[in-house]
Amino acid sequence: MLIKRPSDVSPSEITRESVYLKRRDLLKMAGIATAGMLGSHSIFASQAVPGASGKLLPSARKSPLSTDQAPNSWSDVTTYNNYYEFGTGKEDPSRNAKNFKPRPWTVKVSGECDKTGTYAYEDLIPASALEERIYRLRCVEAWSMVIPWVGIPLATILRKFGPNSNARYVSFKTLHDPSRMPGQRRRTLNWPYEEGLTIEEAMHPLSLIAVGVYGYELPNQNGAPMRLVVPWKYGFKSIKAIVEIKFTRRRPRGSWEQAIAAEYGFYANVNPEVAHPRWSQARERPIGAGLFAGKKPTLMFNGYGAQVAALYTGLDLRKNY
Ligand code: MTE
Repeated sequence: MLIKRPSDVSPSEITRESVYLKRRDLLKMAGIATAGMLGSHSIFASQAVPGASGKLLPSARKSPLSTDQAPNSWSDVTTYNNYYEFGTGKEDPSRNAKNFKPRPWTVKVSGECDKTGTYAYEDLIPASALEERIYRLRCVEAWSMVIPWVGIPLATILRKFGPNSNARYVSFKTLHDPSRMPGQRRRTLNWPYEEGLTIEEAMHPLSLIAVGVYGYELPNQNGAPMRLVVPWKYGFKSIKAIVEIKFTRRRPRGSWEQAIAAEYGFYANVNPEVAHPRWSQARERPIGAGLFAGKKPTLMFNGYGAQVAALYTGLDLRKNY
């Protein structure tokens, strides 16, 4: 299998070149450099991002783990969303999450670790530790985006809790409050939304807790105030609005696995060779590339194979989908 490093994937692979160049010109006109031209701090925090709103975050360090592909627009990132707690349509979350108040926010930490307890958001996310990570996102529905997240490595947060040697997995839960999340009044999924990783996946340097996009605080529809981002896995693993973290001996079952285990497995690694039972995963539709741009090939581990393939040595990725 051919595994590419993120920097080896040329922007023209995600978007037809003419469309990409047009977007790059637009970004330039708006005073936004492409990721390859970034300085040591986020370009986004200091310059106008067309359409952006919300509170600016303190400047974030540029990460060497970012792709140099051009990010999607603010509008793509914040109006084409999956967040069933606020509706099942792509534009429902941006409409229905407008009045959601993500502060104050606490996270309950339990299970196989030394420092269980309830932590305030501010204790988990020191502003001085923020990094900008421009990652590809590949949804299991076969569309993709490039998103300039701001966040903190998940490992940095998890280490604070002192996981013990029984901690083989980490599970995460989203807020369960139907009065604030209208989609939870219907049983579209077993609420609260739940997801999990092996401890090795959770501690991998690419795993991120995102608290912002484009240098701004995370919009509600993207999972404010804090959500997971695991860029080599299908997007449904990247759980939003996290209120619980639990270290476990046993493998957790995510909401989608609970709903349809034959279609949504625990690993959910992006894999163009293993079709979803109802559609191929070989190609993807880049959002924002224009009507005629067509689909592009999906890469193994979403192009992050050089970094993560070793996590799965000896594992049959067809059986462990
Ligand atoms: N987290 C919660 N709590 N509820 C959801 O419905 N959808 C997932 C994931 N996290 C979802 C969630 C899916 S299917 C995807 S593709 C990504 O969020 C989308 O993230 P985005 O809307 O920020 O692009």
